[in-house]
Amino acid sequence: MEINTDIRLGDSKEVLKELPDNSVDLIFTSPPYADQRKKTYGGIHPTKYVEWFLPISKELLRVLKPTGSFVLNIKERVVSGERSTYVMELILEMRKQGWLWTEEYIWHKKNSYPGKWPNRFRDSWERLLHFNKHKKFNMYQEEVMVPMGDWAKTRLKNLSETDKKRDESKVGSGFGKNISNWVNRDKAYPTNVLHLATECNNKNHSAAFPEALPEWFIKLFTQPGDTVLDPFMGSGTTNFVAQRMSRNSIGIEIKKEYYDMVQNLIEEKKLVLFDPKETYETAKLKRSN
Ligand SMILES: C[S@@+](CC[C@H](N)C(=O)[O-])C[C@H]1O[C@@H](n2cnc3c(N)ncnc32)[C@H](O)[C@@H]1O
Repeated sequence: MEINTDIRLGDSKEVLKELPDNSVDLIFTSPPYADQRKKTYGGIHPTKYVEWFLPISKELLRVLKPTGSFVLNIKERVVSGERSTYVMELILEMRKQGWLWTEEYIWHKKNSYPGKWPNRFRDSWERLLHFNKHKKFNMYQEEVMVPMGDWAKTRLKNLSETDKKRDESKVGSGFGKNISNWVNRDKAYPTNVLHLATECNNKNHSAAFPEALPEWFIKLFTQPGDTVLDPFMGSGTTNFVAQRMSRNSIGIEIKKEYYDMVQNLIEEKKLVLFDPKETYETAKLKRSN
């Protein structure tokens, strides 16, 4: 299967207009957070964030297939000792735009930096907002099942007699009934909390997310040969993971230095096909330095 990785330079608001309607299976992205990291890739003021994002989400709605999903990695920042509300406002406005807000996943950052703040504790999680165009969308739940683990040994062993009886008599749909369904199974469906370290191999971008993050959602919402879009590509994490997982991908980046970096790495990966050892090693090194 031939896999295409198509990266484009420019403002997503404009570049997205080049993409056909209903052509993308999954949009996975982490936009610039309001006012953060201003010096590295520009921030949007919290009061202007929704206004800035809506023309982009309008285009995303157009390019997403009816069966597709949009996963937005975002977290509101603290301004003057108070959490901003722009993410909540954005959700409300996107719903008016036609998006369904299906779910919210949490990325628990297992290794967040320790610190002391006068009015809160260290921030150890980010949101992954899941939006759809329709209630019925592609979701391959079996692809992300997890081992039952110790939970099965302890919790299932301790099922009360009432729980079991309730199941045997097939009366109602109580807790006992659901729990006992999982006895003797190796795998369970995961929760909506992903426990991942922030560390990643890619240090070429100040805000790169770990590869495991797009990987999990690509598994859950797409199949090989499908198309993944990251409209705020950065160092191309989503695109490189998509490529490795045999998914086509499109990446859009406004900063030429990031675009050039990703473009060069893609070219090098292509060369690997003809000159395996040396070029592959160089590409790998560049990405991990
Ligand atoms: C949070 S970073 C994404 C990091 C990426 N997930 C990675 O793993 O490297 C957001 C990126 O969006 C880019 N960006 C900001 N505004 C943009 C726009 N209007 N269109 C396209 N890219 C934009 C920034 O330059 C930055 O590289």
